[in-house]
Amino acid sequence: MDHVQTISRRGAFAVGAAATLAASLPTRRALADVLPGRRLIAAAARVPLAGASYAETGVWAYDGMVPGPELRFRQGERLRVTVGNGLPEDTTVHWHGVRVPNAMDGVPELTQAPIAPGSCFDYEFDLPDAGTYWYHPHQHSFEQVACGLYGALVIEESHPPPVDRDVVWMLGDWRLLPDASIAGDFGNRMETGMAGRIGNTVTVNGRVTDTFPVRAGERLRLRLVNAASARIFALEFRDHRPSVIALDGQPVVPYEPEGGRIVLGPAQRADLVLDLAGVPDSRSTIVDSFYQGLEYRLLDLVYGAERLRDRAPDDFVALPLNTMPEPDLATAERHKIILGGGMMSGMMGAGASGSGMPGMMDGMAHGGGTGMVWTFNGVAATGHDMAPMLELARGRPHVLALSNETAWWHPIHLHGHAFRVITRNSVPAPYHEWRDTVLLRPQERVEIAFVADNPGQWMIHCHVLDHQNGGMMAVIAVA
Ligand code: C2O
Ligand code: CU
Repeated sequence: MDHVQTISRRGAFAVGAAATLAASLPTRRALADVLPGRRLIAAAARVPLAGASYAETGVWAYDGMVPGPELRFRQGERLRVTVGNGLPEDTTVHWHGVRVPNAMDGVPELTQAPIAPGSCFDYEFDLPDAGTYWYHPHQHSFEQVACGLYGALVIEESHPPPVDRDVVWMLGDWRLLPDASIAGDFGNRMETGMAGRIGNTVTVNGRVTDTFPVRAGERLRLRLVNAASARIFALEFRDHRPSVIALDGQPVVPYEPEGGRIVLGPAQRADLVLDLAGVPDSRSTIVDSFYQGLEYRLLDLVYGAERLRDRAPDDFVALPLNTMPEPDLATAERHKIILGGGMMSGMMGAGASGSGMPGMMDGMAHGGGTGMVWTFNGVAATGHDMAPMLELARGRPHVLALSNETAWWHPIHLHGHAFRVITRNSVPAPYHEWRDTVLLRPQERVEIAFVADNPGQWMIHCHVLDHQNGGMMAVIAVA
């Protein structure tokens, strides 16, 4: 029976693998029986993504859930997770933002052999830093993540700041057909060369969510995670004044963003302290206003009849810094990385009256001819296993000067390290924050700095997963 279900679940996906393969796959339950200890099993499942008035959606999920199980550890603990593959294709798990040893980084071909269907892999490493992280495959991520393979990894401080509730909101974005199944149009060349595969259905913790119950006077720690493949969010907490206490898991000097607006590129996180300052029995709308003219209501905070306390506590203490060494900018080595490619990018460079020729030539030089290829320093990646773009001396401070010479936004993620955002367009970055993923506007230049203290072969790539798939990916070797 399970086998039959597996086949029909897969049928909804149009993933392109031979249908007969599914018949020989072990089921999720069978894998669970043979794997000891903490495990995550990636397999097909059905979940009520779009809500009760729609059919369930066939997804790929960890342990049958979207998001996958919320993994919580204490800072300094050791993570041990066995990942079993019940999918019809290879997979891996990448622990996004965690400073892991290279062999645990989950990059297929580069740091491990991919986990074949029906087999498993043991991930085991120490958790040096507290913060909000997440996990997802690094194999075909433009399909696997978009089909539901992602989950939160929360590493708690040894003395977490007191709050009434500590809540994760994983933001997801799906392209659903009218029957609530996932559209199978992955890797569309036109979209790849533009903003990526932006969907039509936004979920919070794997459900289209209308309301979120709160109590007057309550203090929340809200951990936002953008798990979307391409969608950028700008959440406006209109009647509230959230305080940002961490970005990408890394503590930041707490600040209240202008207009209560939190911008999150794909893969980015923000930890907020949110004081529920409304009155009992009221509602307050959170709007996502990132794309002009396409604002929509994400959900309403709905106040219950009871008041928890008269006013929020005012004893908030900033989070202690994590364990990264501070990069010394005066002695840092500098490296340039130019982001290129995509539709219309060359034309932008040529100015408003440009003929478009630079764009065409740029595309032709990289084999596309249509601007649907993305590059770092002129090279488009075709897989994970490649010669390093940069070799960084271990233990030394380095500055990467990222220059976005395209017409599109890019969230650039570096593995194995956290970095400080130093400047934007030559001006000191306002929060000087630590991050693992930095969002660049079209034509923006951003400098980041870090000590290359983690030896190995590390990916740097755009986290618009279609851009990554289209070539915006490289290896940085630290030795
Ligand atoms: Cu979240 Cu290389 O990825
Ligand atoms: Cu990109």
